Amino acid sequence: MNYILSLLTFLTMSTPTTTAETHTITLSPLPYAYNALEPEISAETLRFHHDKHHAGYVAKLNTLIAGTPYEKMSLEDIITKSDGAIFNNAAQVWNHTFYFDTLSPTPKSAPEGKLLDAINKAYGSVDNLKREMNEAAVNLFGSGWVWLIENKDGKLSIMSGKDADTPLRYGMYPLITIDVWEHAYYIDYRNARAEAVKAIWNRIDWKKVEERYNKHQQ
Ligand code: FE2
Repeated sequence: MNYILSLLTFLTMSTPTTTAETHTITLSPLPYAYNALEPEISAETLRFHHDKHHAGYVAKLNTLIAGTPYEKMSLEDIITKSDGAIFNNAAQVWNHTFYFDTLSPTPKSAPEGKLLDAINKAYGSVDNLKREMNEAAVNLFGSGWVWLIENKDGKLSIMSGKDADTPLRYGMYPLITIDVWEHAYYIDYRNARAEAVKAIWNRIDWKKVEERYNKHQQ
């Protein structure tokens, strides 16, 4: 009996627990080659954007959360429970992964089905939606992100978020984002944000956007 108890104690102690483990936030790899989004986005821009800026937010976040309760949380939990520098870096990590994942070397060029119906209902047409998002991107003063989001009631809307702001913070479902920080376009377009924003639509993969939308429409 004592032997069995000892064995059980040994096994319990030697089994790693996942509940109180600390972990580091990892950098998601770029889901395509650096030159895969040319000519709209150059390889040089992607190298800086992913390997320097995105990676920089990941490194900074890991430094900031070391030794704090955030070290045991998922990235999403950190975003909803933090503020200040930890929120800024965590949200930038999440936003960039979402942004890179929205773009594709072989994008579906137009939405269909339920998503198309929802866009037509809210904006009249896909072209109108693009126009309104482009306008929001050009008018966003300073750095930030422009989002197409699905509200809790299922309706679509456009959100302009300053700096690192993200719809996750408000319990909304993001469908598309456009990064309007200068680091996203300055190498290729210099100060012409309007041109950069217009070009990005050639790389937005509507298949991904449909999948995100349909997930909440069951
Ligand atoms: Fe960025």
